[in-house]
Amino acid sequence: MSQPSLPRLGFIGAGRLARCLALSFSRAGYPVTAVASRTAASASRLASQIEYCAAFDDPQQVVDAADIVFLAVPDDSIGTTAHTLRFVADAAGGPHGKALVHCSGASPVELLAPARDQGAAIGGFHPLYLFGGDLADIDRIAGCSVTIEADGALKEALTALAVALHCHPLSIPAGGRMLYHAAAHYAASFALCSLAECVALWRTLGFAEDDALRALLPMLSGTIETARDKGLPGALAGPVSRGDTGVVEKQLALLEGLGGDHAALYGLLSRRAVGLAERRAKPPVAIEAIAEVVEESLNRSLNQAAAGASVK
Ligand SMILES: NC(=O)c1ccc[n+]([C@@H]2O[C@H](COP(=O)([O-])OP(=O)(O)OC[C@H]3O[C@@H](n4cnc5c(N)ncnc54)[C@H](OP(=O)(O)O)[C@@H]3O)[C@@H](O)[C@H]2O)c1
Repeated sequence: MSQPSLPRLGFIGAGRLARCLALSFSRAGYPVTAVASRTAASASRLASQIEYCAAFDDPQQVVDAADIVFLAVPDDSIGTTAHTLRFVADAAGGPHGKALVHCSGASPVELLAPARDQGAAIGGFHPLYLFGGDLADIDRIAGCSVTIEADGALKEALTALAVALHCHPLSIPAGGRMLYHAAAHYAASFALCSLAECVALWRTLGFAEDDALRALLPMLSGTIETARDKGLPGALAGPVSRGDTGVVEKQLALLEGLGGDHAALYGLLSRRAVGLAERRAKPPVAIEAIAEVVEESLNRSLNQAAAGASVK
């Protein structure tokens, strides 16, 4: 049963993220009153799973029936959809003003300026979670963080919504989203790209991808657990962390010999590993020698890549 003092929530877009957020907010006691989407079928499917929630054909009807409207559409449609919406002061004089919020990590909140120009509050609510669109998302999202960009009462309301999902609210300064989102790839897609590089290199030794992943994924899980326990410098393992200059040197030479950008990638990540090792209370004695070996290899491989690019 929802509490009367809570804002009414609406969703424009009924995809992977909206399915989880709408159902989770409803289960947390928030009144989720309205859903619209590109297709009526999507909106009806989601609304039918939520008590007292109506599916609408027109996104404007969501604005009219909710206090906080989540624009959960693909990023390229955020600005165009925001331009079509009309906001008028709450005729009933209710306690909640109107707000329009998008859920993208990369797109600027400023895309919602047309709503702000009509008196609505605007903000960003970005869950750091990869939504699969399944019901399992509802349990898995607990413990994640939600990055919030908003001011005043809307910031308070969005923070309460993040807490209702059992998530940690994170605050981001205005204009910071693009860098924040670019960097977050390292903990998601780029972790997969690191695995893909290993799989590609192991393939030259005859390893099948399935066998490689069976071997690598538990190691990755263990690394994440160790990072949780010991922090990044404390969890660092491998030749850089041990001060094994010879191994680093031989591995870089081997990868340079393979051609392509294998050595450059390894060199850039080794540079970051040197940075982590240096943050330890007792960095390996050989860390400066390793840093030199890494930088020399990077000079060779990056110069080679630049020469290749200018030949093209
Ligand atoms: N998926 C994630 O892991 C994730 C994580 C964090 C943030 N986000 C952000 O969440 C937002 C939504 O992403 P998503 O992954 O949920 O996308 P999605 O699964 O592709 O769903 C998009 C939804 O928007 C609807 N839609 C598309 N264009 C529309 C329009 N012009 N007007 C109204 N509805 C429209 C689609 O309608 P139909 O279903 O009717 O075709 C669909 O229901 C994006 O800003 C994304 O950056 C996503």
